[in-house]
Amino acid sequence: MKQIAIAIDGPSGAGKSTLARRAAAELSYLYVDTGAIYRSIGYYARKNGINPKNESAVLAALPNIQVELCYGSDGLQHMMLCGQDVTKEIRLPEISLYASAVSAFPGVRAHLLEMQRELARKNSVIMDGRDIGTVVLPDADVKIFLTASPEARASRRCLELTQRGTPEDYDKVLREIEQRDYEDSHRAVAPLRQAEDAVVLDTTNLDFEQSLAALLHIIWERTSK
Ligand code: DC
Repeated sequence: MKQIAIAIDGPSGAGKSTLARRAAAELSYLYVDTGAIYRSIGYYARKNGINPKNESAVLAALPNIQVELCYGSDGLQHMMLCGQDVTKEIRLPEISLYASAVSAFPGVRAHLLEMQRELARKNSVIMDGRDIGTVVLPDADVKIFLTASPEARASRRCLELTQRGTPEDYDKVLREIEQRDYEDSHRAVAPLRQAEDAVVLDTTNLDFEQSLAALLHIIWERTSK
């Protein structure tokens, strides 16, 4: 049976992971959160005192970093780092900048490329990240560029952090989002950019259910032909 690949790219905090996870559940596809893989490398760097901006130090550590995606009986993606489940730890706000820094290195991206493609060869997937439609799965059946204004994304992130019991100041979150947008879209390798054949979905003025309906509609329209 032909596997279907749906690529969702966009800036941080646009709601990619929550929307992609729900859409994947609706369609019974595997949800692959590629940001979690970069976060695991960032987490390893932090835990081992490696400067995430030091390319040679990060590349030298790569052979020691075993990352694996596991799917629990709950169907949720768990990140294993050297045999340890780090699913929760990689979500800590301070890991975001580590992940962004290590993801800028071509050696890190090349190291993780095949693992992502393999998942899409074996399963129908909804894969989200920054370069899925442009680099990882250039032949994806559907490509969506999911975005929202920095302010809307900062408000959502603040709400999420408060619900998680780790509230943060709005201005600080907004500054970090703008900094990450800049870094993710200005790096030399696989910068965040919209694939030419991607459909743009801007969720600034949509709530979650409206965004999900719009996302599923785009997928349905392009896979039912
Ligand atoms: O989606 P996220 O915030 O969990 O991603 C963490 C970092 O990883 C983000 O700053 C950009 C990077 N990333 C990437 O470069 N390529 C991907 N496919 C996914 C994430």
